[in-house]
Amino acid sequence: MPPAASLATTIAGSPLASCLYNASGPVCSTADELDALGGSDAGAILSKSATLEKRAGNPEPRYVETSWGSINSMGLPNEGYRYYLDYARRAQAFGKPYFMSVSGLSHDDNIDIIKALAREEAISAIELNLSCPNVPGKPQTGYDFDQSRVLLERIFEHVDQPLGVKLPPYFDLPHFDMMAAVLNDFPIAFVTCVNSIGNGLVVDTDTESVVIKPKSGFGGIGGDFIKPTALANVRKFYTLLREDIAIIGCGGVKTGTDAFEHILCGASAVQIGTQLMREGVGCFARIGRELSTLMQEKGYPDIDSFKGKLKSLD
Ligand code: DHB
Repeated sequence: MPPAASLATTIAGSPLASCLYNASGPVCSTADELDALGGSDAGAILSKSATLEKRAGNPEPRYVETSWGSINSMGLPNEGYRYYLDYARRAQAFGKPYFMSVSGLSHDDNIDIIKALAREEAISAIELNLSCPNVPGKPQTGYDFDQSRVLLERIFEHVDQPLGVKLPPYFDLPHFDMMAAVLNDFPIAFVTCVNSIGNGLVVDTDTESVVIKPKSGFGGIGGDFIKPTALANVRKFYTLLREDIAIIGCGGVKTGTDAFEHILCGASAVQIGTQLMREGVGCFARIGRELSTLMQEKGYPDIDSFKGKLKSLD
């Protein structure tokens, strides 16, 4: 056997000992949850998407697991951005990057938050969420290419730390081109593909009812079922975006093989959401071991030796 494979990567100029870390969403809302990520094998700590003010989120039940994944309509429950800004200093104890997810309810809110984060060196990068599907009455910015450009123009007037964006999944090939044309015009450090597939509906046949309370049962779909969509988005943006924009894969990662597929499609790091919710922070060590073993078997010493090298059949 060749020597053990390295899972190390670099995102937004910050070195990560492992390319696996949490998706913004599950178990990253409180300082205790963030500490647990810090103490785990996750390569970075990413906060829950922060709004200007603390929010209770949508009524429960608002997260349900199914055999193939999950449906959620959390509605951005979070402690408000000041809490996650304050946490940045505490995160330094773990010796890994701390990324803050920002999801203002309006462009103005996003600008206010971004301005308030400036000069906090303990925030390694910001992940601007262009894709929360769960706030009633709020369209996702990521599906409006003009609005995405308008917001990014304003954001880059004020942002201090490296900034990436979390995108919704796209399904139509011209939409990839349209979003890539916007993103390539800005000094974006990374793009996270994908957020949940918005507004699915899960039906319980026994009760003849929906399974979550908000929005008459409509919610974001995550887990196994979304992996092909996530891989398609990683692959497309990897081929369309500037080389200096890293792709972070998110969607349907349960095993080392799933993470390998994301990296093969072009991901420089891989986030874990539904499986983290199911398994807890131990998932990072397990999936890391599985990925490292697979790389070793295939003779890949590091991520860069297979990143993006997906073959076509023609
Ligand atoms: C929530 C869901 C998302 O998919 C997201 O990007 C941000 C927040 C939520 O409902 O809390």
